Amino acid sequence: MRVEKSASARSPSATDLPAQGEGGSRVLITGASSGIGRALALAYARDGASLVMLGRDAERLEAAAHACLAAGAEEAETHMADVRDREAMARIVQSAHEKRPIDILVANAGVATGLSPGQLLETPEAVRAMLKINVEGVFNTVEPAILPMCARRSGRIGIVGSMAGVRSLPYSPAYCAAKAATHMWADSLRGALAPHGVSVSLIVPGFVKTPMTAALKAWQPGAISDQRAALIIKRGLERRQSVIAFPLFIYAAMRLFALLPPAIVDGVMRRFHVDVPETPEREIS
Ligand SMILES: NC(=O)c1ccc[n+]([C@@H]2O[C@H](COP(=O)([O-])OP(=O)(O)OC[C@H]3O[C@@H](n4cnc5c(N)ncnc54)[C@H](OP(=O)(O)O)[C@@H]3O)[C@@H](O)[C@H]2O)c1
Repeated sequence: MRVEKSASARSPSATDLPAQGEGGSRVLITGASSGIGRALALAYARDGASLVMLGRDAERLEAAAHACLAAGAEEAETHMADVRDREAMARIVQSAHEKRPIDILVANAGVATGLSPGQLLETPEAVRAMLKINVEGVFNTVEPAILPMCARRSGRIGIVGSMAGVRSLPYSPAYCAAKAATHMWADSLRGALAPHGVSVSLIVPGFVKTPMTAALKAWQPGAISDQRAALIIKRGLERRQSVIAFPLFIYAAMRLFALLPPAIVDGVMRRFHVDVPETPEREIS
């Protein structure tokens, strides 16, 4: 299903808002129906961006698009798509780019899954579903934009990883593996695409208050709002930062943990009571 709004759907109250900063940029965001992706779309909307918003929940995606139009977006196209569907993602990204070149693309959609205290094995079907969303879904989003952006010698790509990709946590083995994969991919792409005028930023959030973390039973040090996270990400993308990690004290701690003897860090981490619910997502053929 594909729903599209034209500029005529803009909120009349938005027409007088001045465009600032990245005004008029074409911005594609996956997972724009909720949490960080929605907040990021709203942040770009306030600059008068032309938004391409992807998600699966029609009602929430539509509501987010309306909020973006009311906040000043020039336009807010919505596309219902599962990031696991490679062909659909290629069609959407290519057609959005042909209509108007994409300046900024953020592969944000993702799900979390993990272990409850005492649980030893993650459900294999849930793990495979999460890997397809968090890893292949990122590839499916970014790949179709690479050649068109390089041909224009212009574009910024943001890939949302996690602190869990910096140093693995004993509470979510498969999620950590998936995020580490995206970190390596982003780091590699950055070096490959920079000579072609395309920047790649690895986005490494700590705890951000979203529906994802609302389901997590754990101490969440340094947790920030999705609006604050969106502003940090937007500023980092504007500056073409290689790594947009926040909060910095958590990033520094995770980098340090990665350097310390693993057995010591594992022992410290085991002392925390953490319950990461299993994703309801399951493998699809
Ligand atoms: N919140 C945090 O503390 C935190 C920390 C580190 C990293 N992250 C990462 O940040 C990203 C966004 O997370 P969030 O906290 O904003 O979570 P969220 O509020 O649960 O939003 C997740 C978004 O991903 C979309 N999505 C999930 N599966 C999808 C699929 N198969 N196809 C298409 N879209 C799909 C959802 O769309 P629908 O609801 O429409 O299906 C939703 O818009 C994720 O990659 C997450 O791993 C979050």
